[in-house]
Amino acid sequence: MTGSPTSAPRPPSAARRVPFEHALREAADIAALSPSSHNCQPWGVAWPSGRGARRAAERLVEEAPAGGPEAPDSTSGESSTGGGDTDEYVILALDRERELTSLPAHAVEMLVSCGAYLQILLRSLALQGWSTDRIRFVEPLADGRTQKAYDACRPLGDTWPKSWSPLCAVRLRRTDEPVGTLAELRRTALARRTNRAPYRPGAVEPAVLDGLSAPSTGVAEDAGVTVRHLVADSERAAFAGLVARHGGRDFTHRQAWRETYSFVRRDEAEAQARGDGFPLSQLFGPLSTPRRHALRLALAPTTMGVLRHAGYHRVLARQLARVVRPTPAIVAMGLADALPGVEATVRGGARLAEYWLRATEAGLALHPVSVVLQHDDVRKELQDRLGLPGRTFFVSRLGHPLTGFPRSPRRIGARAVRTI
Ligand SMILES: Cc1cc2nc3c(=O)[nH]c(=O)nc-3n(C[C@H](O)[C@H](O)[C@H](O)COP(=O)(O)O)c2cc1C
Repeated sequence: MTGSPTSAPRPPSAARRVPFEHALREAADIAALSPSSHNCQPWGVAWPSGRGARRAAERLVEEAPAGGPEAPDSTSGESSTGGGDTDEYVILALDRERELTSLPAHAVEMLVSCGAYLQILLRSLALQGWSTDRIRFVEPLADGRTQKAYDACRPLGDTWPKSWSPLCAVRLRRTDEPVGTLAELRRTALARRTNRAPYRPGAVEPAVLDGLSAPSTGVAEDAGVTVRHLVADSERAAFAGLVARHGGRDFTHRQAWRETYSFVRRDEAEAQARGDGFPLSQLFGPLSTPRRHALRLALAPTTMGVLRHAGYHRVLARQLARVVRPTPAIVAMGLADALPGVEATVRGGARLAEYWLRATEAGLALHPVSVVLQHDDVRKELQDRLGLPGRTFFVSRLGHPLTGFPRSPRRIGARAVRTI
């Protein structure tokens, strides 16, 4: 864990909180395995341990969030008072130094990624006897987003990382009987991964799909997410057609492609050393060294700037569509509001994590195809063609994998955690 737990003034009950520090470390290790757009891992978690920081976090949880209306309490019926010194707090943040920014739609992807992380973090804590008692979301105003969000954490002192925008504060309480085991969750989180290879032809059993859509727990409980499975031939064909037509959009968007390419690592070794992004083999499967070099060169932003005039982006779109077309199911997740706020989007990400873990347990794999959501005109066409209401925030191939897929790199879990 970064920061210096020993340098901060300790409240009298510090000794009793040591188990929480341990639990948080374990939880951060597991939550680090969460999926994120481009594997950018844009999350941060602050753990207030000093007296002043704890009081400030308490106020953040109790009071209406800065810049927004009173957020609904998510106590699941539990008491919100009386924990005193035995309560613990964590504050989830978006790390602005790690976020993707080249497209407006990335703002949604970042919150979704942080929400997925939060769901796994809080589930891991619950399995160690620390259950969520209350969550308050920081809902910044549209004008002055960063400033407002930062203001909410000003009372937390100088230890608050400057590049972090708080998303929500969580109060946790000791509970005695966790349901399930941490080892099980760790196993599933390790097994979950994005699998971009072809899937087994043939339908996914309807009962399995129903299980994936069933109501969720934790932060995802009140997420208000609509889960639609596109399984009819006509729906899947319409989706594949859209990918074939628009799937090359990113390659022609200079800024977006430059940003995406900055996450492409030369090889496994570089990916492991950096702890984020993806080696080319993650995107294109196992590659010989000459082919890897050739692809890297072809995909480099300067080359792409030239090759797109020859229609190379259309070739890449058709390649993606060829993988999408025979996929037995496409899952689309949507939020009711066309312009969802922080809370709705973070909860949406939590729902996605829950869905992906369940799919993993059912032996299924996912491969998101976000390019059709990243440009408003394409997203609207998708939603209109397939009758998807509100704001579709996630769309992915879903099926039984035919081959395994390598695990992508991660930063060490504790690097996302700061003691404040
Ligand atoms: C919101 C979101 C959008 C994503 N979009 C894509 C995508 O368009 N294409 C893709 O191949 N992977 C996509 N991914 C998967 C990430 O690239 C993947 O989670 C990350 O590289 C880590 O790999 P892992 O899922 O195997 O752990 C997305 C993930 C998230 C959370």
